[in-house]
Amino acid sequence: MPETPEQTWNIKQLLDWTTDFFSKSTIGNARLEAEVLLAEALDCQRIELYTRFDEQPPAEQLTEFRAWVKRRAAGEPVAYLAGHREFYSLRFQVDSNVLIPRPETEHLVVAAVEFTKSLTCDPIRIIDVGTGSGCIAVTLATLIENCKIAATDISEPALEIAKSNATNHGVDPKIHFFTGDLLDALPAGSKPVHLIVSNPPYIGEREISTVDDQVKNHEPDIALFSGPDGTEIIQRLVDDAAQFLLPNGALMFETSPIIMDRCVNFVKNNPAYSGVRVIKDYSGHDRIVVATKTDD
Ligand SMILES: C[S@@+](CC[C@H](N)C(=O)[O-])C[C@H]1O[C@@H](n2cnc3c(N)ncnc32)[C@H](O)[C@@H]1O
Repeated sequence: MPETPEQTWNIKQLLDWTTDFFSKSTIGNARLEAEVLLAEALDCQRIELYTRFDEQPPAEQLTEFRAWVKRRAAGEPVAYLAGHREFYSLRFQVDSNVLIPRPETEHLVVAAVEFTKSLTCDPIRIIDVGTGSGCIAVTLATLIENCKIAATDISEPALEIAKSNATNHGVDPKIHFFTGDLLDALPAGSKPVHLIVSNPPYIGEREISTVDDQVKNHEPDIALFSGPDGTEIIQRLVDDAAQFLLPNGALMFETSPIIMDRCVNFVKNNPAYSGVRVIKDYSGHDRIVVATKTDD
């Protein structure tokens, strides 16, 4: 929006101008993103903008909004600018140290909650590997009353965000956080668990040219990429998880349809598992692998 001193801007004009500008910058959801950024700059709910159309924001808030609009048009994700993203109807703090939670991952949460309904033990013990923002662990802790969760990540700054999200949602007493490589992060002698969940990195370094610029230029590489084919971390996870699972426990992880067959085969070829099934995402793509530990 031009910074001419003689022009004043009300909320409606700001939204219309920014929506048009974002559309020309080929940003999908241009109106929504304009609303999210303006609501954040004005520290109000998005819906309130509609009742304040004629209001002229103060100069300071306008300056902040202008700066965000420029950064958004240059490719920075709106969630990092606003500092949060909704996942499973909960607000998660995010910054550039964590992957922005994706709607596909909600299928993992649904499957995990369903699985725990069949358990009668107390507490239900769960591990979330590669917790990032903590969106899976924190959501499960809000949905499953009697659970204890160990959440791991190799990234210290990511764990700081996850801890903050756990506190914001009042579930910090139910989650313990550990830094380190996959399940090696857990203290020696940790008790076996009923469920292991994970949304690990699963993009192959070979695929990098096909990854959206907004993703590869702004989200952390360590959250995205896993070896040349994208399977390296999942293969290790499948192999290592078996020794942390109780008999009939489940390992559930998200992956890409591109490597789904190989991920399913990692489970099928491992005698520690007795069964495997695949859950599709909202777009009909194979997305979640559910592996069942043998009955011993
Ligand atoms: C795809 S992100 C998922 C984050 C979050 N669970 C979600 O669903 O939005 C993968 C996460 O795994 C972490 N990670 C990558 N390699 C890891 C490893 N070897 N051990 C533990 N965590 C790892 C990354 O730091 C990142 O937070």
